[in-house]
Amino acid sequence: MKRNLSLAILTAAGLLTLAGQPGFSAEERKGPPKSLDKYYPPVNRQRPYTLEMLELGRLMGSLTMDVRALPPKGGKNPAIAKEVEAFAAQYEKVSAMVPEWGPYFPKIVVANLKKAAAENGERATLEPLMKEVETNCTHCHVRELFRVQALYHWPRFAKVAAKNARDEEVPFHDNMIELSNRMSALPTSVARGDFDGAALHQKEIMTQFGVLEASCENCHQEPREYFVDRVVKGELMKMGGLVKRKVADQADYKKVIDAVSARSCIPCHQLHMPAAYMQAQLDGK
Ligand code: HEC
Ligand code: HEC
Ligand code: HEC
Repeated sequence: MKRNLSLAILTAAGLLTLAGQPGFSAEERKGPPKSLDKYYPPVNRQRPYTLEMLELGRLMGSLTMDVRALPPKGGKNPAIAKEVEAFAAQYEKVSAMVPEWGPYFPKIVVANLKKAAAENGERATLEPLMKEVETNCTHCHVRELFRVQALYHWPRFAKVAAKNARDEEVPFHDNMIELSNRMSALPTSVARGDFDGAALHQKEIMTQFGVLEASCENCHQEPREYFVDRVVKGELMKMGGLVKRKVADQADYKKVIDAVSARSCIPCHQLHMPAAYMQAQLDGK
């Protein structure tokens, strides 16, 4: 992928504000059922749904290991029937927590597993049944897990406040657009020989980048090294130096901007944008 191209695409996309987007259909805005709300902050800080899922995973894992430890034929382990009972009870419990998701928890697969275990089933009988259960777990995870994470575990990007040039609080999104537009405009000013205009852009880029850096604290308690590190800031300062020395060669600016994109903008987007945009979509923006 050509890095300078990606930045150009980003900037073009940035001209659309999130709020002004054409809007999502009701289907696209359909997030996880509202009955999940009560298992997450602010309603419940213990996150019981997460904890019960982890317990389901634990029971499933230890059962799987005990089944695998059976000899291929004729082996028995009476403890397995008990384990299956405990697993089935937890399966039932988790499935009842979100009634709308009932169909994701087919009763028949677990009933078959229980029957096989009660009859002291062999490894060759139990393993395919376990596999079937596991396939159902993943089926729901693939569709729902990430949306739950974006909605209930990630803080909302839309609520992260940033400062604009007049020291007013603006949405994080506005800060991104301003930063991006200024970075695009600076080389254009240089090309016109307008070094005062370029210097103004440079000043704003440094300010907006500082605002971006400060925004990490909204979600991260400890400072993060990536994306806003010394090397990235060094590149941005280099751009200031070019403007000050009235360097006119566009290639020099492109080099710096590409380096910043590759080290800051793009990787940080790859990490944070999926959650941010999933939130925006489910919030109907
Ligand atoms: C936290 C890491 C992070 C860094 C570093 C970062 N961004 Fe962003 N950026 C985001 C997130 C998250 C979004 C989406 C959320 C939003 O815009 O509301 C975003 C959105 C954008 C958008 C809006 C895109 C669109 O689809 O409308 C632009 C433009 C943008 N960033 C440019 C940049 C540029 C240029 C840089 C580098 C100088 C940069 N960003 C650095 C996290 C980051
Ligand atoms: C109806 C959908 C659904 C089904 C079916 C389901 N899960 Fe989950 N599971 C979830 C969701 C949603 C989360 C994320 C919860 C959260 O992060 O708060 C999750 C999280 C988990 C986690 C924690 C994973 C992590 O890294 O966050 C484990 C372990 C787990 N599930 C095990 C299982 C097992 C084992 C089964 C099948 C026996 C199963 N789940 C069936 C929806 C489902
Ligand atoms: C709206 C909340 C939010 C903002 C703002 C935000 N992050 Fe994150 N970031 C997260 C979440 C959630 C994760 C997932 C893992 C975690 O919780 O650490 C994450 C993961 C990361 C990771 C990888 C895992 C780790 O914890 O080191 C890095 C690096 C990172 N962010 C850097 C940054 C930087 C740098 C900024 C500011 C430029 C920033 N983030 C802004 C929410 C945010």
